[in-house]
Amino acid sequence: MRIALLADLHGNLPALEAVIRELERLQPDIVVLDGDLINGVPFSTEVIDLVRRLDWVAVRGNHEFYYLDFGTPRAEPGSEDPRRWGQLHWLAERITPSQGAYLAMLPDLRTFYLPGTQPLCITHGVPGRNRIGFYNEQAEANIVAELTAVNERTLVSAHTHVQVDRHVCLMDEHRQVQQRWHVINPGSVGLPLNSDVQAQFAMIEAVPDSVVPGGWQATMIRVPYDRRPALAAFAESGMEAAGGAMSQLFYWEIVTAKPEVVFFFRWASQNGHSSSANIEDAFSAYCEATGRKRYVGERDPLFHRGGQ
Ligand SMILES: [Fe+2]
Ligand SMILES: [Fe+2]
Repeated sequence: MRIALLADLHGNLPALEAVIRELERLQPDIVVLDGDLINGVPFSTEVIDLVRRLDWVAVRGNHEFYYLDFGTPRAEPGSEDPRRWGQLHWLAERITPSQGAYLAMLPDLRTFYLPGTQPLCITHGVPGRNRIGFYNEQAEANIVAELTAVNERTLVSAHTHVQVDRHVCLMDEHRQVQQRWHVINPGSVGLPLNSDVQAQFAMIEAVPDSVVPGGWQATMIRVPYDRRPALAAFAESGMEAAGGAMSQLFYWEIVTAKPEVVFFFRWASQNGHSSSANIEDAFSAYCEATGRKRYVGERDPLFHRGGQ
């Protein structure tokens, strides 16, 4: 039994198409989408249509909730402000009722009990919380603290856009192992943030417990693709004009594969630009103070011959 795990597509159709070509070669038994199908890159509606046609198993991520909660009492505070949330406004106008219904009915968690394999918990973060994620540098105790609601020994989690394959355990005061988990993050198809610009996913294979505790062996995969159509679509689609600084930051993440959104908000809060202030002014000040726009521009494959 071999399962392909795809997560954090974020509307990047060219990256997804490159992964699909690789899947045709790998021939997994099942393909699973672990949330954040939409928002970020301008092809969210095309990505929804494609994954629905392929009839893959999917769970929701927090970016599906940005859309599903938009315009409701559950919405993110301030999301009516088009300067900060223009990209979401742009997206919400384009998702059709049928596409919205598809997102509305996705589960937040799936647990597989496939014959001859051990149970597999699949969710975007951890059960009940879709904005929790894991890193390779993270202290084991901090990971374990987030896993209390995970009853299965293998957890597939996404959200951080970095590939992770870690075994962690909970010890008692006598340093005896109480519980073990295998945590797998397949990385991001559409917006990887581990400094590698390739589209990323994972294959997992059922193996005996003696081979991998928990019964699932992961292979991390990275696929090169031409990023230029995705980058060009930001301006061509009108999303960049609608989304302003936020769209610019997502564009930068495709160029650098680094957490540009986090970098910006960290700088803004450290330099007295509160989140309620005009984001465009804060972004201009950020570009001016850090030279980040020039740094990214020098690496942009749209403007450098031969770059992908
Ligand atoms: Fe994501
Ligand atoms: Fe997420």
